[in-house]
Amino acid sequence: MNRTVELNIDGKPVELPTVVGSEGEVGIDIATLRNKTGCITLDPGYGNTGACKSAITFIDGEQGILRYRGYDIAELAEKSTFIETAYLLIYGELPTRPELAAFSDLLTENQMLHEDMRHLFDGFPPTAHPMAILSAMINAASSYHPNIISKREERFPWHAARLISQVRTIAAYSYRKAHGLPTIYPKTTLKYTANFLHMMFSHPGEDCDLKPEVVKALDLIFLLHADHEQNCSTSTVRMVASSRANLFASASAGVCALWGPLHGGANQAVLEMLEEIHADGDDGTKFLNQVKNKTTNRRLMGFGHRVYKNFDPRAVIIKQQCDKVLSQLHKSDPLLDIAKKLEEIALHDDYFIARKLYPNVDFYSGIIMRAIGIPMDMFTVMFAIGRMPGWIANYKEVMEDTDSRICRPRQIYTGSTLRSYTPMESR
Ligand SMILES: CC(C)(COP(=O)(O)OP(=O)(O)OC[C@H]1O[C@@H](n2cnc3c(N)ncnc32)[C@H](O)[C@@H]1OP(=O)(O)O)[C@@H](O)C(=O)NCCC(=O)NCCS
Repeated sequence: MNRTVELNIDGKPVELPTVVGSEGEVGIDIATLRNKTGCITLDPGYGNTGACKSAITFIDGEQGILRYRGYDIAELAEKSTFIETAYLLIYGELPTRPELAAFSDLLTENQMLHEDMRHLFDGFPPTAHPMAILSAMINAASSYHPNIISKREERFPWHAARLISQVRTIAAYSYRKAHGLPTIYPKTTLKYTANFLHMMFSHPGEDCDLKPEVVKALDLIFLLHADHEQNCSTSTVRMVASSRANLFASASAGVCALWGPLHGGANQAVLEMLEEIHADGDDGTKFLNQVKNKTTNRRLMGFGHRVYKNFDPRAVIIKQQCDKVLSQLHKSDPLLDIAKKLEEIALHDDYFIARKLYPNVDFYSGIIMRAIGIPMDMFTVMFAIGRMPGWIANYKEVMEDTDSRICRPRQIYTGSTLRSYTPMESR
């Protein structure tokens, strides 16, 4: 049944159609509103704005549901791998065995950076944040493969594989560069996540010990971050893609959007916060009081979410994984104790209850990454590696949508009305 809604603007009724999604959500299609009435809608932060139709990821924030292509995140976390999930996100279906093998081969085939790119790494100062290097290098990588810019559709599987594979190589190189360590090339015999850990932690002539529980934990972190609907960075990727920019340029913009502490940068900010609380000798109580009275303008990082108003299903899985990894590695971490204490207090505190603030995916992921030796300034890079399949799937959706138009929001202008130029001597 096609439902419509009626608005009444200055006594004039306006009928607008609705769009119903496969899970029953209803959107009011306002595409004709300005033509019909001269009005636009205003929704800063886009809390009530659907920017596109998408068949990739479904979230029900009230019920704590997250599904990739219809599959529940908890089931994928238990049964799938990051690479299989990447295929699912990009191509829409779980791969058959030969499809997965072909995808895997394509990743291996494309894992090496052009050798000249190593000189570009040398140009960064030792103080460069790895997210700055990542964004710049993803964009630079397109220069070495000009056919990426030509966007011939039949080449898409190569471009996608190259991006997924090379983001991991770039990330590891940027870590090695920042720490003054020699570059370690990827191996053709290792799977995706193990290969990344090899490039991070091996030394020339001495391969690192790839503990299966560490490989599994990091693979799970990648999988849990693989897509998340129309968040800030994915919307950025779609917006850049809407101008028909190439895949690498769009993904590079996504990395920049992800970097901020209110988005992907929160995982680093959580650890910095926990370290500060620990150094203060606080068990979290003093810190939470500062957060609540708002005098310090501080937030409990890793808490709250624009969409989840019940719980973040990824946080539940990550918290369990955090306990598991620490016990498998026979490690304890005082920061984990502080995090659990903060969570316990916050979940029973009126401030957080009233605002529906719960731990999000970033609250515990940093503690796992710290336990497996990933330095803090690489945390958001891990998020970017994980999110790449989601960005690519969204890019592909934009490119394949024959109705897609360049994204170009409107505004309500609040500046000066027309005035005359004042000569310098009269100002
Ligand atoms: C994720 C986030 C950006 C969502 O923001 P949002 O939907 O725009 O929510 P708002 O900023 O409008 O916050 C609503 C209220 O909750 C409060 N709030 C939100 N997150 C909070 C947090 N982490 N700590 C303390 N208070 C918080 C706000 O101060 C505001 O309070 P008010 O109504 O008294 O003004 C926000 O919760 C946040 O900054 N979280 C910490 C950063 C983080 O973990 N980001 C990763 C997300 S996966």
